[in-house]
Amino acid sequence: MKFISKTEIFIFSTFLILCLFYLHYLTSLSIININYINFLKPRHQNISHCGRFPLLVDLNISDTNWQVTNTSNGTFYLFNAYYDDREGLQNGTVIRILALINKIDPIVKTFCQMWFDNLKEPEISEIYEYRMLWPKYWGVNDKGASPYLISCKIPQNRTDQAPEFVSLTEDRCGFANNVMEVKNKRPKNGHKKHFLISVKNVEFNDDVSMLLIEWCEILKILGVDKIEIFIVKAHQNVLKVLEFYQTEEFLKIKFIKFPHELPNRADQSWHQWSQNDLVPYHDSFYENLRLYEFMVPMDVDEFIIPIRDEDRTWQDLLKRTIEKSKSKNENFDAFPATNRYFLLKSSHQNETYDGIPKKLRFLSNIYRAFKATPNGGNAKTFMRMDRILAVHNHFPFSCIGPEKCKSFDVSLEDGHLAHYRTDCDNPECKESKLNPTKDTTLWKYKEEILKNVNETIERIKNFRKP
Ligand SMILES: *[C@@H]1O[C@H](CO)[C@@H](O)[C@H](O)[C@H]1NC(C)=O
Ligand SMILES: *[C@@H]1O[C@H](CO)[C@@H](O)[C@H](O)[C@H]1NC(C)=O
Ligand SMILES: *[C@@H]1O[C@H](CO)[C@@H](O)[C@H](O)[C@H]1NC(C)=O
Ligand SMILES: *[C@@H]1O[C@H](CO)[C@@H](O)[C@H](O)[C@H]1NC(C)=O
Ligand SMILES: *[C@@H]1O[C@H](CO)[C@@H](O)[C@H](O)[C@H]1NC(C)=O
Ligand SMILES: *[C@@H]1O[C@H](CO)[C@@H](O)[C@H](O)[C@H]1NC(C)=O
Ligand SMILES: *[C@@H]1O[C@H](CO)[C@@H](O)[C@H](O)[C@H]1NC(C)=O
Ligand SMILES: *[C@@H]1O[C@H](CO)[C@@H](O)[C@H](O)[C@H]1NC(C)=O
Repeated sequence: MKFISKTEIFIFSTFLILCLFYLHYLTSLSIININYINFLKPRHQNISHCGRFPLLVDLNISDTNWQVTNTSNGTFYLFNAYYDDREGLQNGTVIRILALINKIDPIVKTFCQMWFDNLKEPEISEIYEYRMLWPKYWGVNDKGASPYLISCKIPQNRTDQAPEFVSLTEDRCGFANNVMEVKNKRPKNGHKKHFLISVKNVEFNDDVSMLLIEWCEILKILGVDKIEIFIVKAHQNVLKVLEFYQTEEFLKIKFIKFPHELPNRADQSWHQWSQNDLVPYHDSFYENLRLYEFMVPMDVDEFIIPIRDEDRTWQDLLKRTIEKSKSKNENFDAFPATNRYFLLKSSHQNETYDGIPKKLRFLSNIYRAFKATPNGGNAKTFMRMDRILAVHNHFPFSCIGPEKCKSFDVSLEDGHLAHYRTDCDNPECKESKLNPTKDTTLWKYKEEILKNVNETIERIKNFRKP
């Protein structure tokens, strides 16, 4: 009897391992899902007279999140595509593709090839707009790649149905090397929820689990419906906390990695770094366009808090604010809350308070700068998802006709952004460091926060990733 040689075993197992790696790689790509496979089946042969639904091998995928298409004048890093049929859009229903492009104001002519469920042929529509998601007066990033929303119109005779997929090509009928699922989520029961929070590109190198638990529990009490968090890197313990909240459906983790052609985050210019933050915000915004009334871009060291005793939730605060705005007889797109720094390094930093463990960062720090940050600096804003086209960390950029967004400030008597910083050296911080103001607004939720944090810690201890 002849035994299988060691070499054969070695070759065979190497082959098997490579297959597994390839399979793992494919399933990690966001585009390769059951919808794509089902859609491809009847279209895999070359039956279209114009274009071809891209096969797996046609796709030019870079770093899992991005599909790259190089045109005659500009390289496009495509991220995701969304259906936008909101009211008041001058050009009717459109598809928006979120992308980075290595050109300022691209002029290359490109097309959307839209793939519908019951059609073998794509509908073709020329791109009518490259909207840069960054104002030029902040400086142009001409050495890197800037974020854009690329838009094309759905043909008038097709607006009864949303396309399932879209490809971007330079030749009207060319074979595309990219395909994106057109995201078009609708609320299951027909009703929008209120508040979505989007957290950009975080790198949690340290174990900030406690901070995140306290932050999430506070936001739950305030009436937040969902948090989307884009992760570049996270400590294992932090990941476990986030996965716990994800199984609770309170939070969604989105891993993100930028194209390898761009410098590493540490080596990026300020422009590239800041512009990269706009990719997550617009992805959250457009993917959830129809699911929530308001989006608030936020970091994990801050939250908007209602100040009046009788207001407990963001809904109470907004109701009050919108009521006040009515005297202006205008339709407002956004409601910014003014920034106030809570100083973790104040002269009171070593004080302890009855029943509040020091590890609870928010509850145990009750001294803030006396003055608020002037002129809306570092504000965080309730942004109306039915009205806004482009967002930024602190305020919306452009809105649906007229372009210039209208904001109505949350009154400082009603609410503010409580922003917990170890230290800060703005004028308002410096001035008040010697004589900080005591502010125990958060303590109106003290018992509830303590109880919920404790319970959650217990549940996370026993939590196993499903
Ligand atoms: C696919 O069809 C197009 C248009 O009919 C044709 O030009 C092309 O050569 C075909 N490609 C293949 C691989 O059959
Ligand atoms: C494919 O992607 C690479 C970057 O990953 C890019 O350099 C290349 O130009 C792309 N090819 C085409 C045909 O777009
Ligand atoms: C992209 O296309 C342009 C124009 O055809 C070409 O000059 C350039 O080398 C290409 N770049 C890459 C990375 O493929
Ligand atoms: C509508 O489309 C036209 C081109 O067809 C474009 O010039 C115009 O800017 C678009 N309007 C808006 C509000 O995007
Ligand atoms: C390429 O596009 C830029 C604008 O993004 C434009 O200034 C330049 O003239 C274009 N080059 C060609 C060869 O069309
Ligand atoms: C829709 O209109 C376009 C021309 O605008 C035409 O090419 C296409 O065949 C039409 N599609 C249907 C389904 O009627
Ligand atoms: C608080 O305690 C730390 C460590 O014991 C000390 O370094 C710091 O000076 C104290 N701060 C104040 C304001 O007392
Ligand atoms: C939370 O747990 C700590 C110890 O783990 C305990 O001392 C404290 O009383 C608990 N607080 C509440 C409100 O249950």
